[in-house]
Amino acid sequence: KLPTRVKIVDVGPRDGLQNEKQPVSAEAKIGLVQRLQEAGLREIEVTSFVSPKWVPQMADNAEVMHGIQRQGGVRYSVLTPNLKGFEAAIAAPRDEWPDEIVVFGAASEAFSQKNINCSIAESIERFAPVVEAARAKGIAVRGAMSCTVGCPYEGDIAPEKVGYLAGLMKGIGVQRVDVADTIGVGTPGKVQRAIEATLAHYGIDAISGHFHDTYGQALSNTLASLELGVWNFQSSVAGLGGCPYAKGATGNVATEDVVYLLHGMGIETGIDLDKLIDAGVYISEVLGREPHSRVSKAIRTK
Ligand code: HMG
Ligand code: MG
Repeated sequence: KLPTRVKIVDVGPRDGLQNEKQPVSAEAKIGLVQRLQEAGLREIEVTSFVSPKWVPQMADNAEVMHGIQRQGGVRYSVLTPNLKGFEAAIAAPRDEWPDEIVVFGAASEAFSQKNINCSIAESIERFAPVVEAARAKGIAVRGAMSCTVGCPYEGDIAPEKVGYLAGLMKGIGVQRVDVADTIGVGTPGKVQRAIEATLAHYGIDAISGHFHDTYGQALSNTLASLELGVWNFQSSVAGLGGCPYAKGATGNVATEDVVYLLHGMGIETGIDLDKLIDAGVYISEVLGREPHSRVSKAIRTK
């Protein structure tokens, strides 16, 4: 039985904008977060506290977290790969802390090295004190699992590797996990195998689908996930982004496209599609291009 409602984390301000070449001002990022919450998004991945040498686009993390106008009932998350990042995320007054932090590992050894400069086992050792510190402060913890179906360096990834990583995440107290197809190579069966491997460690309510649309498979993979009962997804308004450590990866699937799919199936999201399209147009104008969303384009040219 398909879920009757779905919760979407818009990861555009982080996953999207981390990979845009031209600089985007903190003000524009704050404006994007504002428009997303006005469109009904209840979870927004705002920024990441990573090394500015690795990802200069997120160097304004503290400024963005300071500038957003919090709305009740919205969960704001940030990426923190290590204690240094976590400490930076909570250096601000408490009302500027993230509601949730995200540690991010990979099912592929090679991708772990390229993305966070350490092995999978070492990454878990780094995450453990971050998870402990966050939970001690009442901050929720999500774990992103990259390359759960394919890796730009290793090719196909076996579901066993996904299960292994999910087990490690569970072991250190990560509360929920994202099954990410970082380079968008997945097809429904493969994505379902990755989710099933994760289900050995996490309940369905604690698993979200994070699909990039590089090969145009993200909506099919969303439907395949819904069929397994997954009801949490991540997507980027206007299909922003990609990944700096995955060459050729396009952005996340566009939130507009996912919302259209879900509403068409009678699944509630709480999102106002017209306002969401406006949010996508806003940030695309900042970037000087069209939104990468078929639904946005179709509705705007109707
Ligand atoms: P490292 O070089 O191994 O770490 O980087 P280090 O501890 O040796 O530190 C080296 C330098 O970085 C030092 O500065 C540290 O202070 C600094 P220096 O002394 O050279 O001036 N540093 C930091 N600065 C700010 N914030 C921090 C931080 N940590 C160290 N938190 C590290 C390790 C993880 C930091 C680095 O590899 C990094 O920042 N990588 C970026 C990873 C990233 O942001 N990737 C994109 C997000 S993941 C993604 O998009 C996938 C996802 O969407 C799911 C999917 O689709 O697959 C989530
Ligand atoms: Mg991603």
